[in-house]
Amino acid sequence: MIRLVVANQKGGVGKTTTAINYASYLAKKERRCLLIDCDCQGAISLLLRLTPKHVLGELVCHRATFSECVFELDEYLHVLCGDQQTVEAQSALWNAGQDKSTMEGFLAPAESCYAATVIDSGPSMEPIQAAALAYAHYVLIPVTMDLMSLHGASSVCETVRLLNKSGDRRIRIAAFLPCQINQRLSITRLAHDGLRRISEAYEAPVLPGIHIDQAVHRGILARKAVIEHEPDARVSRDYMLAFDQLTNLLARYEDD
Ligand SMILES: Nc1ncnc2c1ncn2[C@@H]1O[C@H](COP(=O)(O)OP(=O)(O)O)[C@@H](O)[C@H]1O
Ligand SMILES: [Mg+2]
Repeated sequence: MIRLVVANQKGGVGKTTTAINYASYLAKKERRCLLIDCDCQGAISLLLRLTPKHVLGELVCHRATFSECVFELDEYLHVLCGDQQTVEAQSALWNAGQDKSTMEGFLAPAESCYAATVIDSGPSMEPIQAAALAYAHYVLIPVTMDLMSLHGASSVCETVRLLNKSGDRRIRIAAFLPCQINQRLSITRLAHDGLRRISEAYEAPVLPGIHIDQAVHRGILARKAVIEHEPDARVSRDYMLAFDQLTNLLARYEDD
């Protein structure tokens, strides 16, 4: 099973949008996927208007079982929703030492049920985000073309480097994904150069970018990932191309 975390320590760069669309992409390909919301703002259930009976925080604090917490959106796409209860779960993780075994423990039932877990993380490096990174095999980093977003991307890379140094397992930066590209605003040379430098330093490629497109918002109004709601929109074609490349990369990494 592929364990992929979507992370950038800056908010608003497209983590949630990318996580929802990648999970939807896998489901389209009939690969069973568990989408996990580690952000205590609970954006995934808000955006998709899900009404789960139980949430991630309750699973972490042993107040509900794995199957009680999983919301079945359809046959191939299940969601473990987050909300404010994740804040409380953070102290449980903190007390447990927040290493990879912590998250592995409560996500163990996922192992035999899904082809992938896709984790949407929050912007700050709280215990739940650190635990998600420690659990992951791969990290996908969405970046917008501004210096704070690049800084947020570097911070994730540095955390991964430190986790790899201290742990027994290698977490791999799968790729960087430029998001919300607006061709009318010429992207600054500085940001481009910055992303190239980070990509070289951490030996991870840059995927083809995702344009800014109002279709994303129309998808949200329809409670759906844009690739599902408007597959022909420019942003959907961008996501499909990027995710095809990501899939090939992950297959290559798995062979390594
Ligand atoms: N390609 C895009 N085109 C237009 N709006 C987008 C695009 N990607 C994301 N957005 C919007 O940008 C905002 C931030 O995206 P989000 O995925 O929530 O970022 P994060 O999870 O990193 O905070 C949201 O309002 C989202 O709908
Ligand atoms: Mg988000």
